[in-house]
Amino acid sequence: ATTLGSAAAGKGRYFGTAVAASHLGEAAYVNTLDTEFNAVTPENEMKWDATEPTRGSFSFGAADQIVSHAQGKSMKIRGHTLVWHSQLPGWVSGLSATDLRTAMNNHITQLMTHYKGKIYAWDVVNEAFQDGGSGARRSSPFQDKLGNGFIEEAFRTARATDPDAKLCYNDYNTDGINAKSNAVYAMVKDFKARGVPIDCVGFQSHFNSASPVPSDYQANLQRFADLGVDVQITELDIEGSGSTQATNYANVVKACLAVTRCTGLTVWGITDKYSWRSSGTPLLFDSDYGKKPAYYSVLNELGGT
Ligand code: G3I
Repeated sequence: ATTLGSAAAGKGRYFGTAVAASHLGEAAYVNTLDTEFNAVTPENEMKWDATEPTRGSFSFGAADQIVSHAQGKSMKIRGHTLVWHSQLPGWVSGLSATDLRTAMNNHITQLMTHYKGKIYAWDVVNEAFQDGGSGARRSSPFQDKLGNGFIEEAFRTARATDPDAKLCYNDYNTDGINAKSNAVYAMVKDFKARGVPIDCVGFQSHFNSASPVPSDYQANLQRFADLGVDVQITELDIEGSGSTQATNYANVVKACLAVTRCTGLTVWGITDKYSWRSSGTPLLFDSDYGKKPAYYSVLNELGGT
């Protein structure tokens, strides 16, 4: 195999990237996407502010562009994200608890119905836990008004809407074993014990020198998998360059391949040119779409050449 997607497929995995609809007119961007990747995640286009900017009026144009492109190339699509405290339009935070519950369930239902049958996995709830050692939930309109039960409710609504989509919880700084990942672990364990529908956990994996690839990354993925859920690397990027960055990327791939239920990896962008990180070079292709050492180390780790 000579591409990331085909090499990953040889290992029974997908290899995806975040995609922005605004770049789909750029030939080099699309060529790299279509050649190398077999899965996509819309970077911003499925978020609440993009899809329901005012209550009850839904706009799917930009997300539809990505979905139809991906479908044309038989790529898997990860839906990102249904319930998140960020990129949330102002009207949502102004609602009473009763209205917020209705609005949350309606938002989930409308998006999942629009894309029914097209999405491999949805990030149903994103980033609901605090950083630091408390293991507590993060303050958000959902948490503050609906309480802990909002996550369970979101997952139940999601399952009822599209029973064929895998339903994921997705977060960052949960990549290694720590207080935050322990809290997510306890939630998933509780969901599995009580029959709350959850199929997968996403580990964003945004790494830099302050937050390096954890030495217990594989062990952490494995303990979640052992609860009976799939695990996925959902937003991988690693600051740095050259052989250090290449080694770090290889270690991430190695960890996923070592965990049977790690079903795929997604990098958070194709090229350094468009990374969400305003400075730095965290991706596999440089700003001219040249293959970086990290690209070759990932390909090699996936068994490609
Ligand atoms: O769409 C507006 C545009 O109309 C406006 O002119 C422009 C001016 O700033 O802003 C545009 O919105 C930006 C949006 O990306 C689309 O480009 C926002 O300012 C910008 O904040 C937003 O950043 C995104 C970020 O999430 C917001 O939270 C990044 O692209 C996206 O990569 C990033 O992705 C998140 C994941 O969803 C969740 N995990 C963390 C990850 C990285 O932060």
